[in-house]
Amino acid sequence: MAVKDEVKQIKEAVSKSKDKEPQLTDLPGIGPAVSSKLESVGIYDLMSLAVMTPTDLSEAAGVSPAVARKAIQAARKMLDLGFMEGTEYAKKRESINYITTGSKNLDNLLGGRGVESRSITEVFGAYGSGKTQIGLTIAINVQFPLDRGGVNGKAVFIDTEGTFRPSRIKQIAEKIGANPEKVLKNIFVARAFNSDHQILLLDKISEMIRNKEPIKLLIIDSLTAHFRAEYSGRGQLADRQQRLNRYMHQLMKLAETHNLAVYVTNQVMANPAQLFGDPTTAIGGHIVGHASTYRIYLRRGKAGSRVAKMIDSPNLPENETVFNITETGIVDDA
Ligand code: GTP
Ligand code: MG
Repeated sequence: MAVKDEVKQIKEAVSKSKDKEPQLTDLPGIGPAVSSKLESVGIYDLMSLAVMTPTDLSEAAGVSPAVARKAIQAARKMLDLGFMEGTEYAKKRESINYITTGSKNLDNLLGGRGVESRSITEVFGAYGSGKTQIGLTIAINVQFPLDRGGVNGKAVFIDTEGTFRPSRIKQIAEKIGANPEKVLKNIFVARAFNSDHQILLLDKISEMIRNKEPIKLLIIDSLTAHFRAEYSGRGQLADRQQRLNRYMHQLMKLAETHNLAVYVTNQVMANPAQLFGDPTTAIGGHIVGHASTYRIYLRRGKAGSRVAKMIDSPNLPENETVFNITETGIVDDA
């Protein structure tokens, strides 16, 4: 078959399957007006709606909580969410993909193959410990084909502190034999100016994915800096934690819905209450910690190396490992 015919056939098949796919407006209580309101906040498909809470949906769509609950139930039914058979669950797990960090040691700490999709990997540590460097490196590695530890995907980098460095991306790309301009083009960078902006950008990502951008990795550097700065007063801690909690849930939904790997960085603060060991704790405490699937603590080690420790994981031991930061990015040995 000629290539042209083949393309035509594929296009027809795609548009047919689109016709069959249930739309938001197929749900009870969701008409075109409500549907376009939902689209404007980044909810385009049944899956995005099905994972919402009635309160969130009611707020976003301007419908009563009762209508929202009905719509969510209907969406879940249409998508057949709920209990899965073991084999089906295993299949879902199979769709999980991994992005190499560039260091075998660090990949092994994360379970063997690097940063995982459908989950949140949080890295916290002091100034200069390497949090941003890992983010920049995986934004490149996600672009590799599967046999080189990538996913053939693009990355989104939400930069809250102005630390994204195109020159560093190009340097690493060149060192590993990739085309620096092409690599840079596959990383969408957005500067988030405050926490509201940081939250809003998530809707933009859903929209980009819907527009067929093959985004497989989301980096947020830093997750907590804006929240920390904006809610610094006494008595604001509860508010901050509530907003962070909500944000973490939004991130997890995004990761689940689009099979994304989410990598977030977090600062530390001195913890005077801790008398032994390293007297630092992560910002956002339990809220961020519990919502993260993998949580790694970074610190400087001997001779310029970095030590990474797995703190919290559903299935991995609390191991420690060593890696290095070089011109080539993240590697085992300097
Ligand atoms: P904060 O954002 O300030 O909290 O720190 P961070 O944890 O994000 O640190 P970051 O990832 O920016 O690490 C900075 C460190 O990486 C530097 O102090 C260097 O040690 C190392 N580094 C950065 N670029 C290079 C490079 O091109 N070559 C080498 N050898 N090391 C580099
Ligand atoms: Mg940084």
